[in-house]
Amino acid sequence: MQETRRRVLDAIAEGPATGPALAEELDVSRAAVWKHVEALRDAGFEIESGDDGYVLESVPEFGGPAVEYGLEAPFDVEYHGSIDSTNRRARELAGEGAEDAVVLADEQTGGRGRLDRAWASPSGGIWMSLVLRPDVPPAHAPAFTLAAAVAVTRAAREAGVDARIKWPNDVMVTGEGGTERKLAGILTEMEGEADRVSWVVVGVGINVNVDPGELPGDAPATSVRAEVGDVDRRAFAQRVLEEFDDLRGDLRGVVDAWRENASTLGKRVRVETADGVLDGEAVDVTFPGTLVVDVDGERVSVAAGDCEHLRPA
Ligand code: BTN
Repeated sequence: MQETRRRVLDAIAEGPATGPALAEELDVSRAAVWKHVEALRDAGFEIESGDDGYVLESVPEFGGPAVEYGLEAPFDVEYHGSIDSTNRRARELAGEGAEDAVVLADEQTGGRGRLDRAWASPSGGIWMSLVLRPDVPPAHAPAFTLAAAVAVTRAAREAGVDARIKWPNDVMVTGEGGTERKLAGILTEMEGEADRVSWVVVGVGINVNVDPGELPGDAPATSVRAEVGDVDRRAFAQRVLEEFDDLRGDLRGVVDAWRENASTLGKRVRVETADGVLDGEAVDVTFPGTLVVDVDGERVSVAAGDCEHLRPA
């Protein structure tokens, strides 16, 4: 949201605030204040004009300005009711030099998952992509994916969903009988030179207020709705962005946070990598997100792959 508009909104939220008082406080014309108020109304904020000035009656349920309002993290949010893929749009913005931008959508018509899979994204989810320009070497980029998985898991647990991370970045819920269902996934894309990242796009897809029946795919899926009922998507998206913002400040610390929220460690796993398939016990994760598997007593490090939790031997 544009800076002056954000300040108009904050002042009205603390209000009541009259047009002339706002104009003076923000050093803009009364006409400009009025235009910002109208734009905020168009964006769904209910602003009454009473004798004492403007009063904020309600905040829109979801959308860019709604998520930005009260957000304790420095992201600008671009909202789309429907878009092909927020990652696609985020890459476009990254190419134009955007930083700390978030592309958020209610629905995606061409959502993309890892390994070139399609990602079902019906209306009611949180489909968003973060554009970052961190000053780190490309080899550290996987830590942003881990940070996003931790952020989503914490937000889901706050909402009452018993979510845990499956390496590297699938947020899962284990149901009766031990069946794991996927609640959220993360797709990170990056551009950079040998020693420095130019931009990172972290795409986060969370099945929130949707029915699992709307989520066809290879693996069983669940949603916040299926686990605990519908939640406030605005608050949920804000918590994810705030947690992520905290975590990215200490990339090495992310691995500890990941361990605390993961279910993979100590499990028997099958990991498909570009070099073949590994069966063993997942014993650790090290910076920036490498899985260490004990294969018949030998420790093997895996940087990337598809991981399956196996039943105990
Ligand atoms: C996975 O395969 O687990 C990753 C899924 C990532 C989906 C998200 S939804 C928002 C963003 N836009 C996309 O097209 N994909 C990611």
